[in-house]
Amino acid sequence: MEKFIVKGEVQLNGTIRMSGAKNAILPIMAATLLCSGISIIHDVPYLRDIKVMQDILALLGAKITREKNTLVIDTTIIQDTEIPEHLMREMRASVFLMGPMLGRFHKVRMSYPGGCAIGPRPIDLHIKALEKIGADVKEGFGFIEAQTNCLTGGEINFDYPSVGATENAMMAAVLAKGSTIIRNAAREPEIYDLQVFLNKMGAKVMGAGSDIIRVDGTEKLTATEHIVMSDRIQAGTFLVAGAITRGDVMVENILSEHLFSVTDKLKEMGVQITTGKNYIRVQSGDLRGVDIKTLPYPGFPTDLQAPMLSLVTNGKGTSIITETIFENRFKHVDELIRMGAKIKVEGRTAIIRGIPKLTGAIVAAHDLRAGGALVLAALAAEGTSEIENVYHIDRGYEALEEKLRSLGANISRHKKD
Ligand code: UD1
Repeated sequence: MEKFIVKGEVQLNGTIRMSGAKNAILPIMAATLLCSGISIIHDVPYLRDIKVMQDILALLGAKITREKNTLVIDTTIIQDTEIPEHLMREMRASVFLMGPMLGRFHKVRMSYPGGCAIGPRPIDLHIKALEKIGADVKEGFGFIEAQTNCLTGGEINFDYPSVGATENAMMAAVLAKGSTIIRNAAREPEIYDLQVFLNKMGAKVMGAGSDIIRVDGTEKLTATEHIVMSDRIQAGTFLVAGAITRGDVMVENILSEHLFSVTDKLKEMGVQITTGKNYIRVQSGDLRGVDIKTLPYPGFPTDLQAPMLSLVTNGKGTSIITETIFENRFKHVDELIRMGAKIKVEGRTAIIRGIPKLTGAIVAAHDLRAGGALVLAALAAEGTSEIENVYHIDRGYEALEEKLRSLGANISRHKKD
C-alpha cells in the first residue's frame, strides 16, 4: 500500500507531453485477439489496467513483450476461451474481450463483472448487441457464456450510447457474415481510434465518431501496427493542475478538439486558454464558479468530473456539478470536505461554494479519477496532505508524481506505515 505526500500552494509551470490513452489501448489490445499474428502498439504507458489486460491475454495464450512504450502482442496461439475470474474482477474493461473472442473462436466464458466503486455497471447493452448479430448468450451462477455457429450482420440500436458496448459490437461484427449497422453508437474519440486500428487489420468499419457505425464483415484479418491516440482525460487533469495552482501549464501531444467541452468550462471560470495544432496551454488567476453536467461525448466527460469538482472548491462563487453517467461518482466529496471544501450533494448533483483556500489533510482515493482529483486539491491546499490508496491512481495515471514534479510540484510516493 502506498500513499502520496503533497506539500501544497506551489504554482505549476512548464510543459508536459501526453502518452497514449488507456481507454483506447484496452479495446485495441482486446482487438489483437481477432486474428493470428503479431500486433505492435506504440505509446503505451505503464498503467495497472494495461498490465491486467496483458495478464489476461497471456493467460489465454498470447505472448506479450514490452520494449519501453511499445507492446508486441503475438496472438498466434490462443488455447483458452475462458477469462479467469480474479482478473475479470480486477478490471471491468475485460468485458471487451467478448466481441473479439466470439468473432475468432465463436465462444467465450467469463465471470460477471458486477458492480464497482463508481456504481453498478451492467453489461446488458453489450449482451443485447452481441445477440443481435447471432451470439447465443447464457447467464447464470455469476458467469456469462456466449457462443455462436456464425456471427451474422444485423441492426443494433442502442438504448444508450455505451462506449464499451459500441466497441464490443464493432469488434464482434468485423468477422461476421454480412453488414452490421450500429445506431445510437457512442461517439468518443477512442471509438474512432479503434476503427482506425480495425481497418488497418483489414476490417471495413465506417462512421465511428458519429452515432451510426457500419461494419461490413470480412473473412480474415491480419495483425498490424498502430500508434495509439493520446489521453484526453490525462490531458484534462494536467490542465486542471495548472488552473488550480494558478500556474501556467502547456499540455503537448493532444488534439484540442477532444477537450472543447472542458476548455470551454475553464474559460468560463476565467482561465486563459491557448490552443495550437498539438497543444493546449492554461494560464490561471482568480477563478469564478461554473455549472457542469456530465454527458456522453462531445459533452463534458464524466472522467473529468472529479478533477473539475476539486477545481471549483477553490475560487469565488457557487458551482453546480451534475453527474448523469454514473450513479455513485461523488466519493471524492467527503474527502474534499476533510480538506475544508464546502460541498452539498443532493442525489446526482453537487453544490459547491468556492473558498479561498483548501487545507491539507489525510484523505483516501476511492477510485481512479477521485484519486486524481484529491491530488489536484492537495496541490493547491495550504500545508501538507496525504493521499492513501495510490493503487487506484496507478490504474490510469502513469507516474503521476514524477510528471507533476517536472512541473514544480512537491509530491512524493511513500510506503504506507
Ligand atoms: C468507458 C470508459 C470510462 C468512462 C465511460 C463513460 C473505458 C475503458 N472506460 O467505460 O472511463 O467513464 O466510458 O465515458 O473506455 N451501461 C448500461 N449497460 C451496459 C453498459 C453501460 O446500463 O451494458 C451504463 C453504465 O452503467 C453507465 C453508462 O451506461 O451508467 C455509461 O457506461 P459506458 O459508456 O458503457 O462506460 P464504459 O464503457 O464502461
